[in-house]
Amino acid sequence: MTGPAVHLETFGCQMNELDSELVAGALGALGYRFVRDAGEADVILYNTCSVRERAEQKVWSRLGELKKHKAGKPELVVGVLGCMAERDGAAMMDRHPVVDVMCGPAELDKLPALIDNAVRTRRSMLEDEPDKAARRSAKSVALQGSASRRSSTLAAAGDSLEMLDLSRAVSPIDANARKSAYVRITRGCNKFCTYCVVPHTRGAEVHRPPDHIVDECKKLADAGVIEVTLLGQTVNHYRFEHGSAVRVDGVVQPQKGRTYKGSHHRDAFAGAQTTTFADLLARIHDEVPAIERLRFVTSYPRDFGDDVLEVIRDHPRICRYLHVPAQSGSDRMLKLMNRGYTVGEYYEFLDRARAYLDQPEIGRPLMISGDVIVGFCTETDEDFELTKQMLVRSRAKNQFIFKYSPRPGTVAFDRIADDVPEQVKRTRNNELLALQSTISEEINREQVGREFGVLVEGLSRAEKKKRGIDVKPGTGMVEITVGGRSSAFGSNARAPGAGLATEPVAHAPGSLVQLSGRTDTDLIVHFDVPTSGARAPEDWIGRIVPVRITEATGLSLFGETTGTG
Ligand code: SAH
Ligand code: SF4
Ligand code: F3S
Repeated sequence: MTGPAVHLETFGCQMNELDSELVAGALGALGYRFVRDAGEADVILYNTCSVRERAEQKVWSRLGELKKHKAGKPELVVGVLGCMAERDGAAMMDRHPVVDVMCGPAELDKLPALIDNAVRTRRSMLEDEPDKAARRSAKSVALQGSASRRSSTLAAAGDSLEMLDLSRAVSPIDANARKSAYVRITRGCNKFCTYCVVPHTRGAEVHRPPDHIVDECKKLADAGVIEVTLLGQTVNHYRFEHGSAVRVDGVVQPQKGRTYKGSHHRDAFAGAQTTTFADLLARIHDEVPAIERLRFVTSYPRDFGDDVLEVIRDHPRICRYLHVPAQSGSDRMLKLMNRGYTVGEYYEFLDRARAYLDQPEIGRPLMISGDVIVGFCTETDEDFELTKQMLVRSRAKNQFIFKYSPRPGTVAFDRIADDVPEQVKRTRNNELLALQSTISEEINREQVGREFGVLVEGLSRAEKKKRGIDVKPGTGMVEITVGGRSSAFGSNARAPGAGLATEPVAHAPGSLVQLSGRTDTDLIVHFDVPTSGARAPEDWIGRIVPVRITEATGLSLFGETTGTG
């Protein structure tokens, strides 16, 4: 007998994409199967994002659409997972009775049991012709609520969640299908930027034990993964104190530490008892050589020591790409946002990072990207001018630009008026987009003539359109929809393995097929391969091949392969 069919849709950041993958693995192990079409599903799950109102609106409209569908299919189980579930709390079920299961991001280890329970109770209830009250009692909720920030609960919460990451299902069947994977190193966030909902939805910062992280990387590498992206909200803040590690079975066990030699650590406490972010990068690089690309997001401007820059410089398989959001170019705004640095300190960091890592002469330039919020509370024309200067001075390859969206529960929502009119936000947003695209174009033109390794992801968008293929990525197992523009990481967001899956490519002999992929500096490159060459077009996918950049048109890069990789 086949198990219940699940339709899982993901919104928001990479953290959510990883969570969806882990949840799918856990449900798959219980016999659930995954379907692309929500209409065929017995269970519909939305893994949601709360970072801006627009992200939430998408899910509201999905839930609205489901109302009618569920009326005709009462046994359907609907679950809202992730940050919206945590932010909205159980009140969401009153407004949207269609929702049966709610599960916050810090409770996802409980999800399989919740779903299993909901499926069973709904079925038996329907057999017994239940009244409304009975139906109501079949609702299942797992939210961390206010307990989340009590330090006594931290270790325990971290440990049961740790099981979810540890039980990651990596089957060798994936070997040809996926080459790129996310690995979490830190959960939650302690920064409390005044505009941001993440510390409220993801809970307190908890660092995963380095041995678990390295083992997960090894497991992925054994399954054929060649690119690992480490995830954390402030990923470079990673720091694991050994000796305090509580294993998942509750046994306290000292862990072996490793200190990266030849670096001068920023503080005297870093030593054998601590694994710093620099140590962790060096460990993964050295202990898992099959990972050809090691990347990490998102970096926080204040926590970058020289030790990390040295490790990146000295370890060739660590990518020279840093996503380090400045958010604003005005010190007054940065203070109001509680970012904890000045724009001068941000520039100092960029200069230092470039001094260490920007080496175009040996074919290893450094690429920076960032995020900016426009129209934050009280932002004046002068503040905005400073942000424009920041864009020019930073020379990021791209910036994700967001209009400030007040989020209930945050300090800014409660204490500072959202007083910049929507029209002004829109104008400033457009102005920054235009300015950044001139900067991005300039940086793109500088790449012409350089040669990069490109990890081939699949047919280019243009090629897909030409062939009438749905451009929405899918892993084949889980329907993953990146929340488009409103996704926290914008177009940078990639479903794990999405687009890397070998796609059937039907083609006319003697013609060219356009493929696309990414450099280790996160630039998207398009190049043509012949349909009747020694290697079929689909066999290029998932490999790192040498490509020389020949042309920069607007925001796109085109190149020629100089070898087969
Ligand atoms: N931890 C990362 C960012 C996570 S959220 C960091 O600190 O850099 C991703 C981005 O969404 C943020 O960088 C910010 O630019 C944007 N963002 C967060 N809250 C927002 C809000 N309330 N309105 C608009 N943009 C927001
Ligand atoms: Fe944490 Fe600030 Fe990033 Fe939000 S924007 S996740 S509060 S560091
Ligand atoms: Fe949550 Fe990621 Fe969105 S942490 S609020 S899903 S950006």
